[in-house]
Amino acid sequence: SARFSGKAPGCLSKSNKSKSSGSQNKPRIAVIGACGGIGQPLALLLKLNPSIGELILVDKDNMAGVAADLSHIETPAKVSHFTTQNPGDALKGGVDIIVLPAGVPRKPGMKRSDLFVSNAKVVYDTAKAMGEHSPDSILLIITNPVNSVVPVACEVLKNQGKLNPKKIFGASTLDSVRAATFIGEITNTDPREVVVPLIGGHSGTTIIPLLSRSHPSVTLEGEKRDEFVKKLQNAGTAVVQAKAGKGSATLAMAYAGSRLCFGIIRAMQGESNVVESAYVVSDIYPELKYLATPLLLGKNGIEKNLGLGKMNDYETDLFCKAVPQMKKDVALGEKYVKEQG
Ligand code: LMR
Repeated sequence: SARFSGKAPGCLSKSNKSKSSGSQNKPRIAVIGACGGIGQPLALLLKLNPSIGELILVDKDNMAGVAADLSHIETPAKVSHFTTQNPGDALKGGVDIIVLPAGVPRKPGMKRSDLFVSNAKVVYDTAKAMGEHSPDSILLIITNPVNSVVPVACEVLKNQGKLNPKKIFGASTLDSVRAATFIGEITNTDPREVVVPLIGGHSGTTIIPLLSRSHPSVTLEGEKRDEFVKKLQNAGTAVVQAKAGKGSATLAMAYAGSRLCFGIIRAMQGESNVVESAYVVSDIYPELKYLATPLLLGKNGIEKNLGLGKMNDYETDLFCKAVPQMKKDVALGEKYVKEQG
């Protein structure tokens, strides 16, 4: 049966058979915002993956130094770089995957949605550049607020007639990563063995773990279950508070982004049963145009949306309570694109 991927970087199968430079048929990946707090460790994790042919590092800040630094690591991925405000400069040759961690992080007291005003533009510009120069790319959005900026990207691409809903991913993977870690701690299990399906979105109460379907099975009820759910929903905020004005999760987020990216690559290269939850265009629940659910990945992005599946009453209640917020989050993104004309 399908399992979540969750493989750590460095444990990846070496399926590429090319002999010369080692980069033929391997994906070209652009990282937009590669100089930033998430961008740098993410670029490092991607560089360590021997399945990647080329890394194109893009940032408005000087990208040359980080690129020179990374290029010395003895793995096949070639490193190129662009210092530019315009992501289009980097996408002209076409890339297989665009990973977008650009944008500003939260400060204590802020909600993820407070970042929309600052971060919508880079998502808008990236989607526009993708539609113009590299419409067949897979786009993996890490920039917050994910619940609202994924609709921004999709509306831009739709307006260009270039939207392929199977190729646009909002990274909610850090919620899967944290859920496995916290359940591993509670049950004294190796967290690498723990899989908790995640649905909803990537903010506060829209982060919904389906413990009733976790693997191995977990029995957590009453206050203990409430505590776990609260800790998971508040985990990003806890990091923001601990960093005390110096940003939000960068290392675990880089890991989570790379995990989703590697799952996408493994599926692209023919591995079967690669499953990850992500926030995507969805027709699973009539009121929500976008929804995070477990997805079976394939050669061209999403092969099959595995849907909400079976939920118990507690999980159904969490989901129903989150629906109004998720609708608002989507509306915010759609309104922004309309206003740009
Ligand atoms: C996280 O979950 O850590 C990220 O979405 C960053 C944040 O602002 O919480």
